[in-house]
Amino acid sequence: MGLGRPALALVVATARGHALCWTAEQPNCDYALATLATKPTLRELELFLRTLHRFDATRKVYVGTDSVASNWTRKQQIHAVVDTPCLARYEAFSRNWMKRQRWGELTVWTHLQLEKTTVMARALDDGWSGVLYADCDVVWLAPFPSVGPGVLGVSPCLCAPRVEARYGKYNGGHVFARSREVLAVWRNATRRSRYFEQAALETVRTVFNESAFDLDRRANVEWLNLLGSHSFDRRDHTMNLTVDDDGQVWWLGDRLLSIHAHVVPSSNQPNFQLPAVARITAVLQRSLILDDLCATHHLLCASRAPCPVAAIRGRSRTVHIASFRAGHGDAASNYYHFFFGLLVPFLNWLETSRPLQGDAFLLNEHGVNHKFLPQLMRLAGREKCVQVGVVGASTHNGSDATARHVTLSNDLDWSILEGPSPRRVRPPEWGLDWHLYGCGFFSIEARRELARRVDVASRTMLRACACAPEPLVPSKPRLLFVRRRADPHNRHQNRSLPNFDALVAHLHAQSWSSAIEFRVVDFADLTLCEQACEAHQSAVLVAQHGAGLANAAYLRDRGRAAVVEICPKSMWYKSIFQCLAGLRGAHYGRIQQTDIHGPVDVAAAADAVATVLEVLGSPVDEKNRYPRPGGHHLRVCNGKDRVWRAPIDCGY
Ligand SMILES: *[C@@H]1O[C@H](CO)[C@@H](O)[C@H](O)[C@H]1NC(C)=O
Ligand SMILES: *[C@@H]1O[C@H](CO)[C@@H](O)[C@H](O)[C@H]1NC(C)=O
Ligand SMILES: *[C@@H]1O[C@H](CO)[C@@H](O)[C@H](O)[C@H]1NC(C)=O
Ligand SMILES: *[C@@H]1O[C@H](CO)[C@@H](O)[C@H](O)[C@H]1NC(C)=O
Ligand SMILES: *[C@@H]1O[C@H](CO)[C@@H](O)[C@H](O)[C@H]1NC(C)=O
Ligand SMILES: *[C@@H]1O[C@H](CO)[C@@H](O)[C@H](O)[C@H]1NC(C)=O
Repeated sequence: MGLGRPALALVVATARGHALCWTAEQPNCDYALATLATKPTLRELELFLRTLHRFDATRKVYVGTDSVASNWTRKQQIHAVVDTPCLARYEAFSRNWMKRQRWGELTVWTHLQLEKTTVMARALDDGWSGVLYADCDVVWLAPFPSVGPGVLGVSPCLCAPRVEARYGKYNGGHVFARSREVLAVWRNATRRSRYFEQAALETVRTVFNESAFDLDRRANVEWLNLLGSHSFDRRDHTMNLTVDDDGQVWWLGDRLLSIHAHVVPSSNQPNFQLPAVARITAVLQRSLILDDLCATHHLLCASRAPCPVAAIRGRSRTVHIASFRAGHGDAASNYYHFFFGLLVPFLNWLETSRPLQGDAFLLNEHGVNHKFLPQLMRLAGREKCVQVGVVGASTHNGSDATARHVTLSNDLDWSILEGPSPRRVRPPEWGLDWHLYGCGFFSIEARRELARRVDVASRTMLRACACAPEPLVPSKPRLLFVRRRADPHNRHQNRSLPNFDALVAHLHAQSWSSAIEFRVVDFADLTLCEQACEAHQSAVLVAQHGAGLANAAYLRDRGRAAVVEICPKSMWYKSIFQCLAGLRGAHYGRIQQTDIHGPVDVAAAADAVATVLEVLGSPVDEKNRYPRPGGHHLRVCNGKDRVWRAPIDCGY
């Protein structure tokens, strides 16, 4: 054949299964990828795309989707994909129904499985020289392997003969094809298959015999390769799956290319598979794709110490359901109302429910498009190793929630909502956003309770976000200026400070400025965690009246921090942030801005900052800690909707 030396070396390497595709220009590296995804598998698809992108940012991916997965796929920015919504026609059916019902010679379920050939065909029609289909619960651990030159590539099960006799010698979750003919033969052979479309691959392999090849055996390793009951040599290879100091995953002496597993086991995954899945999870938790895993399955990253997989499957799991509603304002888009209307009540509920590991916590919301809640869902529950999610149930209190109602989750499997797990449904409750408007009226007990709840939420967030702890050696106090952009679309919240830069410069010019660390942030650009850590690390928070001051909840307590609020004259009556500073035990100063877009008096601001700096570290003066009753305080406990009770008795 006259192969030159480099090409020969590659062929040899390929034969030994050692060539990886570092660029698509290498021989047999120029192929597309195909997969299928539906609503319940979105987290897996996300992990699939994240890990793929880590090793191969340009490989073309074709995804067969239902309508939810299609929407998600089009919106995501992780990896460029071609969406093929070929699964939409199955989404109205249950799995059991599809397995019983026939369309022509095949069950509906088998038709659904065969849609993988639809997606593969689309890639071939687009001109790719080949396409690798991989189930979306594959986690990529290395660049792709180069494939053989043949028209069909299959992934041998390498399992016990008994297993292969029943399910087929090749895995249906990893198939390579170079022609539509291969796909047609596969579909045809499925009519006589003993196990869905998978066992039919044996026939296809025979048909294409000489021009078929085995895929790299370091790819697609599954639970059944690990367990003695199913493995090729009937030995247990669980412990042969290891990870080295560089985070590379190894199995039986080879670096693994991909693992095929539901990292969070689904309801139909039998218990005997768990030891293998637990090992796979433990290895991935130490592997180089850890960040991807944490981004999609945060339960597996609980407080750095892994949350045991078995914990989210136990039998005696309780489903907790609560409904919280911001008292007014829009928790979906306004940070202040989100923070006190949802975040604080939600984290207190998690804390006071004393959950067992693996319990499920559902927030019953009503289908609104939340700006901040998805981030909270990823953080909440980490420490306690509980599964949290959001449902849009039809009842006020969420008592009828089913898996179908789940709208936002941090986890894959909500089948717990279909089973007989005990439920604890709380009566609906107003959030605490209104309480801050009225705390001048409150009894001492009510203020204490409010302060306790804000503290619980603050501490939970600081831990979940792994914010740096306070330094042991006292350092320069940090003065944090919060820059605020005018929002041209929001009439109500449209405020700005035209001389913000002059204000910062003026404070820089003060005699005491060398003893202070200056910092300027725009909270609108930061994640929930970045905001929490920034606020916690500052000694004095200087900000214009507005949602960013909600972050005063993260200030250090017992007089060790302070707030200076720049408040437009037209909002002078509002005492929300004075109340919040009081709840945190932070010193408080306020300066007036004549107009919502007017300049602030920089000398007055410097005085206010100097005043709080002088008292920093000493306890706040109890007499002036809270706003005086009267003025514009809103009465918050009047129960405008009696179904929703107020959590704290306001004492009036
Ligand atoms: C998909 O997105 C469109 C437009 O954003 C929306 O109207 C539709 O309801 C979404 N479908 C599903 C199933 O989420
Ligand atoms: C389908 O398979 C049967 C045998 O399994 C074969 O006789 C027939 O020719 C095949 N049809 C096509 C279109 O490949
Ligand atoms: C492939 O064909 C060869 C003869 O060309 C035959 O010996 C072998 O058994 C065939 N393999 C399979 C898997 O059918
Ligand atoms: C697999 O693990 C066993 C112990 O669990 C060990 O004795 C054996 O050498 C390992 N095999 C390989 C190939 O690493
Ligand atoms: C929840 O609401 C339903 C009706 O919407 C009611 O029957 C049930 O008692 C409520 N449960 C609790 C715990 O409030
Ligand atoms: C917001 O304020 C800016 C001035 O900074 C003004 O130009 C704009 O019209 C205002 N928008 C609204 C909706 O009031």
